[in-house]
Amino acid sequence: MRLDKYLAKSTGLSRKEVKRLLHADEVRVNGEPERDASRHVQEGDLVTLDDTPMERPEPRYLMLHKPEGVVCATDDPTHPTVVALIELPRAEELHIAGRLDIDATGLVLLTDDGKWSHRATSPRHKTGKVYHVTTADPIPPAAVDQFARGLRLKGEHFPTKPAQLELLGECEARVTLHEGRYHQVKRMFAALGNRVETLHRERIGDIVLDDSLFPGEYRPLTDEEINSI
Ligand code: URA
Repeated sequence: MRLDKYLAKSTGLSRKEVKRLLHADEVRVNGEPERDASRHVQEGDLVTLDDTPMERPEPRYLMLHKPEGVVCATDDPTHPTVVALIELPRAEELHIAGRLDIDATGLVLLTDDGKWSHRATSPRHKTGKVYHVTTADPIPPAAVDQFARGLRLKGEHFPTKPAQLELLGECEARVTLHEGRYHQVKRMFAALGNRVETLHRERIGDIVLDDSLFPGEYRPLTDEEINSI
């Protein structure tokens, strides 16, 4: 991690303030004065600010119960964002590991660990994402097989990867996807001439939305949840 990022994360100061400290010769790495903001800090390096050791910043991992009407973005000119719901310093540095549409609800994972978020979202890692869906029209039993075989989405050449569809009621189902195409669940139902009315993500891999979280609430992931990805 770059030295300026390391200091900003471990102190809560802005990059600009950190730059000033570096130029004021207040920062040392392994006892040597350091002014280079881009210097790479490695595991085991001792960073001090004004002779006080700065702890290595730990990555953050959160689960959020996304409410309807909130966008999965850091910034949006018109709608509230999931990041604005996170009352932590430097919340804008969190990435969203798998977005949900504005009208969808449920589990959203946020982290500042880029490699972890890649594992959670990359189709190569085949992390299953589970959605509860209600539809405008009845879902025929034949849809189970169509989801399993793959569907051709409008405007796409390649069919979807095998997905599991579990019928829960006439217009209600649970869908498990192992890839993440744009509006995928809605477009899969649209390919069958149906329309998704509500979409709620229940699970990503082994991480299940905590039922004690109300919409808009979040909590840190447990070590077991972090290591499951
Ligand atoms: N599929 C969709 O259609 N929307 C989402 O938000 C997630 C999956």
